[in-house]
Amino acid sequence: MCNYKVNVLMVCLGNICRSPLAEGILKSKLDPSRYLVSSAGTANYHKGKLPDSRSIAVARKNGVDITDQKAAQFIKADFRKYDHIFVMDVENYKNVLALATTKQDKDKVSLILDEISKGEYLEVPDPYYGGDSGFEHVYSLLDAACKSIAIRI
Ligand code: 4NP
Repeated sequence: MCNYKVNVLMVCLGNICRSPLAEGILKSKLDPSRYLVSSAGTANYHKGKLPDSRSIAVARKNGVDITDQKAAQFIKADFRKYDHIFVMDVENYKNVLALATTKQDKDKVSLILDEISKGEYLEVPDPYYGGDSGFEHVYSLLDAACKSIAIRI
């Protein structure tokens, strides 16, 4: 029997709005004995904090609990730890790639919406400065992307 778990990391800027939702949604679709899903931000503004209350609320509304999460910053060592790194937008994609040292590192990184619209460079919009509807929109984009990830991963 193989005990290896596939390790997946979701990345945004602050790790309090988008990537915690992506982590919670993907976890809810995968067998935890076979997959480890986590999240991080390229910035450290919110290190150690709970997800934004609006992310917690939209997740809860959809039956997903993300209140066990604490914000962390993406670090170079994450390239060794994770098999797949899904990034929310182009800016953060560039920030993650800037820390890659090998082709193997780079090949692990993709824009999460490539899952549902390959090659269009679509981004999960940053909902931080907007209202609740932005969080609903982010949730539906991430749910669609995570459905696809869970099928193929
Ligand atoms: P996230 O959203 O990257 O989806 O977690 C943000 C959270 C906080 C800030 C920006 C984006 N901020 O500027 O503090």
